Amino acid sequence: MKNITLFLTLISTSSFSFAKTNKLIDENTNAIFTQYCSSCHGEKIEAFVDRKWKYGTTKVDIAKTITNGAVDAGMPSWKNTLSPKQIDNLATQIVKSLVNVDQYKFSAKPKTNIFKSGSMTLKLDTVATGFDSPWGITQLPDGQLLITDRAGKLYKIDQNKQKVEIKNTPKALSKGQGGLLDVEIHPQYTSNGWVYLSYSKFKEEAGATWTTTALVRGKIVGDEFTELKEIFEANPYTKTTHHYGSRIVFDGEGYLYLSVGERGKHFEYAQGTDNDLGKVHRIFDDGRIPEDNPFYGKAPNSQTLYTYGNRNPQGLAQHPVTKEIWEHEHGPRGGDEINIIKKGVNYGWPTISYGINYDGKPITNLSKKEGMEQPLHYYLPSIAPSGMAFVMGDKYPSWKGNLIIGSLRFNYLERVVLKENKVIENHKELLNIGRMRSVKMGQDGFIYIGVENPGMVFRLIPSGK
Ligand code: HEC
Repeated sequence: MKNITLFLTLISTSSFSFAKTNKLIDENTNAIFTQYCSSCHGEKIEAFVDRKWKYGTTKVDIAKTITNGAVDAGMPSWKNTLSPKQIDNLATQIVKSLVNVDQYKFSAKPKTNIFKSGSMTLKLDTVATGFDSPWGITQLPDGQLLITDRAGKLYKIDQNKQKVEIKNTPKALSKGQGGLLDVEIHPQYTSNGWVYLSYSKFKEEAGATWTTTALVRGKIVGDEFTELKEIFEANPYTKTTHHYGSRIVFDGEGYLYLSVGERGKHFEYAQGTDNDLGKVHRIFDDGRIPEDNPFYGKAPNSQTLYTYGNRNPQGLAQHPVTKEIWEHEHGPRGGDEINIIKKGVNYGWPTISYGINYDGKPITNLSKKEGMEQPLHYYLPSIAPSGMAFVMGDKYPSWKGNLIIGSLRFNYLERVVLKENKVIENHKELLNIGRMRSVKMGQDGFIYIGVENPGMVFRLIPSGK
């Protein structure tokens, strides 16, 4: 009964926040966890608890597992090392940390397209359907939308919601996480017509398929993509088909930023400055390289590199007031990050991370290191962020200035309240509307959201304050 009431509350308010996790942490117990458990389970209890539980999640179950172990499976018995009190404290701490995972378990689908957030009401207006994954969304000055489908196609949606395919876009390898990815228009689109597309470029070599993140620009004439020219290609190519990064943002000062993931080869590329993977790059709108880039003229370093040590950034947006470029990136199991992009800075992956490996084993036991930037905010468990925008204009009064991020994993919109570049509140909006892939502020002042399975794009129509 309690669960049902909770569920109804979630659906009717569609927005709630939780106290910061670190308030739950008992320092002594944490130190014991670090000393005895972190070598196998990672530094953070909050990362460890995000798992498929085998032996039960009550305090009694957990204390029993710690006491007796699961010796054949590699979990030692702790009864000769730790006191019953210490084991009890560990079990208590683990149960408390589980609340942090449970906060995302809003399981039922919404029954209406009307959502509430504070005193504001939001209606999901479907503007386009029939996508595999609507990866990138941008709006033309006349109100039409350009939407990429990761399956390899670019569409234009007119004001009557008619969807037209734009032909002759670059051929992408639509496999794994690859495909036709982001789309953005030039800040002076009205006078020059440039449209930018990022995608997974590929080649056949030595009997294998190799791929990378590449960026082209071209112009849409009728229903054709014309004057196509490649302006960036990340090197090296890899045989993996994930972690392409691929968000595009212009800063209004003539620079274009493009994120590139480490292609799942974290120990090979993210920390090196002599390659383009696991980086945010900065170029001019035609692909020329700014001479004040951190490694300009310093071969064999990447000339386009602006930041490094980034895992898989699928969110880039410019802050409307400070004009800084904000980024988010996927952590492994835990440790998704929000960062502000600063020239030449190392964001630490995989040397430092708040996450652990997908198999539950630590990747690193460091979450901080001198010379490596700390995230502004990190998520435990991972929400799997994709798409990001700052809420601008006057259409959404109670969200103004907030950062909004799609959650692929938990199917909701993460709304982050900021104060002077600090995250002060996290809210969950639009619960369970789908695997949220793209989030964009339109030129018309509306928020647009793309979800997968089935692939649809919504406009958020607000009323109230
Ligand atoms: C030598 C590596 C190792 C160390 C050190 C270790 N564990 Fe484990 N632990 C494991 C493995 C492996 C499993 C999974 C066992 C299985 O799948 O049957 C596990 C499972 C568990 C589980 C059960 C999770 C479930 O799925 O039900 C708990 C609870 C746990 N460990 C707590 C701890 C605590 C607390 C410590 C420190 C006091 C600790 N472990 C130290 C390897 C370790």
